[in-house]
Amino acid sequence: MAVQPSVGNQGQAVARLYIGGEWRESPERALTRDPFHKTPVTELHVASGADVEDAVRAAVAAKPVMAGMPAHKRAQILRRAAEELMRRRGEVARSITAENGKPAALAQREVGRAAETLEFAADEAKRLAGEVIPMDSSSRGENKLGFTLRVPVGIVGAITPFNSPLNLMAHKVGPALAGGNTVVLKPAPQTPWCSVYLVEALEAAGLPPGAINVVHGGPDVGEAIVTHPGVNLVTFTGGIRAGARIRNIAGMKKVLLELGGNAGNIVCADANLDRAAREMAANAFGYSGQSCIAVQRIYVERPVYEAFLEKLLQYTSRLRVGDPWLPETDIGPMISEEAAERVEAWIKEAEQQGARILCGGKRDGALLEPTVLVDVRPEMKVVCEEVFGPVVSVVAVDSLEEAIAAVNDSQYGLQAGIFTASLGKALQAVRSLEVGGVVVNGTSNFRLEQMPYGGVKLSGIGKEGPRYAVEEMTVERMVIIDLAP
Ligand code: SIN
Repeated sequence: MAVQPSVGNQGQAVARLYIGGEWRESPERALTRDPFHKTPVTELHVASGADVEDAVRAAVAAKPVMAGMPAHKRAQILRRAAEELMRRRGEVARSITAENGKPAALAQREVGRAAETLEFAADEAKRLAGEVIPMDSSSRGENKLGFTLRVPVGIVGAITPFNSPLNLMAHKVGPALAGGNTVVLKPAPQTPWCSVYLVEALEAAGLPPGAINVVHGGPDVGEAIVTHPGVNLVTFTGGIRAGARIRNIAGMKKVLLELGGNAGNIVCADANLDRAAREMAANAFGYSGQSCIAVQRIYVERPVYEAFLEKLLQYTSRLRVGDPWLPETDIGPMISEEAAERVEAWIKEAEQQGARILCGGKRDGALLEPTVLVDVRPEMKVVCEEVFGPVVSVVAVDSLEEAIAAVNDSQYGLQAGIFTASLGKALQAVRSLEVGGVVVNGTSNFRLEQMPYGGVKLSGIGKEGPRYAVEEMTVERMVIIDLAP
């Protein structure tokens, strides 16, 4: 190893490039900043085109090593890396809070989730299998043995977001390695630090050089990965504009996209209103709404609309907004002041168009108060676009059918939630909602690592969750053996 990572000269973190098992410096640097305290956090070494070239070359060189590695060894590496992350849980969590302002307890939880993701990926490495094809079910197949093997796609280009920086890296890197691939990873430029911990964990676990390579930078570095002829599959989590661009420039590569959402949630008249309101407040505003499945739109049956609103406002008023380092803080800053300004502008625009702000709406730097809107219309940005901020709109509806139609009246379709005491209504929603997942008596904002996760419509292409991602990242190879004497 050429240069030690992690801590730079001025006590800041340093995120160097990691290529072919070596930490590499770049003359071009950038700084990440704590979005609450605005202090510098990580000095980021920005990759050049030549660095991306080298990263792909290293991934190509490691391809036969990973493809030939037995499943139990791949599983062991992933499991050990998970243990290593847990051993360093405190410092890894602090790196996340420092860079994206995620409240400390949530950052701790994210490290646990990332370790679990790697463990599930380890399980999948062992489970990966093909199937026997009944060749003699057609006459030309007599005396033939047929079966499939699952083989790696080759080189996975992974581009990850700032909001769950470690776990969403684990959701791409874990299955890629489980399937015997090599990886070129570009973490979000706002949150590069935790990638250093992930690499260190994989290195300590015995991952061979070149199996994971990390290049830092912005969209130009991402595009260099996406368009590189050596990369076989691109997996991306982020916004729809960037996702569409990736799809357009990726050529014939396989592309997996986890894009946005404006999650719709339903409260039926027979629901447990207290529970619904408590969970909606927590899951609309937790981590400032910066999750693709955060509650953004709530459709409430008219008989319970006022009672639900009152409870929602009560629970919202109890949320403590402020310094993400304090254990009592529920809602920290958004990723940047610019992001908070954008959401504030959307709230003001909605107000000018006739919406009423029942609480919140005020901004202080990157902190934006949890905001509840009513009297919204479907064409307002706060309803039809992905807000990705602490804003929720509440709308009264006259029936479950109307609520389902309103949830479906969206370009997105990632996850949805419904609160009801009726199994029949729950199943009606499950059957009719145009989304990748439906949560009954919970909100849209629920994910376990083993779940298939991914949307329909503009919310994306393909599924994550280690079992599903390993399938996406491997291909079936048909084997035919002629047994005729
Ligand atoms: C996302 O924003 O898609 C991540 C949600 C999660 O993993 O909880």
